[in-house]
Amino acid sequence: MKVIKTKIKIVFFIVINILISSSCNSQNKIVNMRDLKKTNWEALNENAVKLIGKDWMLITAGKINDYNMMTASWGALGWLWEKPVSFIFVRPQRYTHKFTEREDYYTLCFFDENNREILSKMGTVSGRNFDKMNYEQLTAIETDNGSVAFAEARIIIECKKLYATKIKEDDFVDEKIPAKVYPTRDFHTMYVGEILNVWIRE
Ligand SMILES: Cc1cc2nc3c(=O)[nH]c(=O)nc-3n(C[C@H](O)[C@H](O)[C@H](O)COP(=O)(O)O)c2cc1C
Repeated sequence: MKVIKTKIKIVFFIVINILISSSCNSQNKIVNMRDLKKTNWEALNENAVKLIGKDWMLITAGKINDYNMMTASWGALGWLWEKPVSFIFVRPQRYTHKFTEREDYYTLCFFDENNREILSKMGTVSGRNFDKMNYEQLTAIETDNGSVAFAEARIIIECKKLYATKIKEDDFVDEKIPAKVYPTRDFHTMYVGEILNVWIRE
């Protein structure tokens, strides 16, 4: 009888732990974020030039326990190969580059003006020597595809990599650009990613 009681206690303990851990994980799931509505590219009603170039974005790549993010203001949203796409540009010396190279997905997060400080910070420190995963102003959330975004964002765009190439000096039509932008020849890697999902704060 004592053995059965002990076994029941163990099973009860295991079940409770499974329930607790699954409820903790679901808090991190983007699908359960009440004020972020899952939608698609057609619901984006933004000036993409301003959104990226002036508001800035956070590019994030990696898994929930191993990711990195950085601020970016160079990029585009558009249409290519019969798909809605984003274009992003990551210099090879960014810590984020290791993740954008390795991963199949990346996310783009856009914030309200009152969160500009987050973007300034993530654009001036590197994940190599700053613990970005524990940055107190951002709450990481995980998509169903296992990519990472942030609960504080007002728009999240999740992309799947389609194409990656290094910008080539010889391909510049305007030769002033490489001289000005790449004096140390650290040419960006350009990624084209299919826009899979969009979440917009309601
Ligand atoms: C407003 C702003 C825009 C930026 N845009 C880009 C960009 O488009 N591509 C890029 O490679 N770096 C860009 N950076 C620089 C990176 O965000 C910065 O070097 C960052 O610290 C890299 O972090 P990491 O080493 O953790 O990847 C930008 C920085 C700022 C502040």
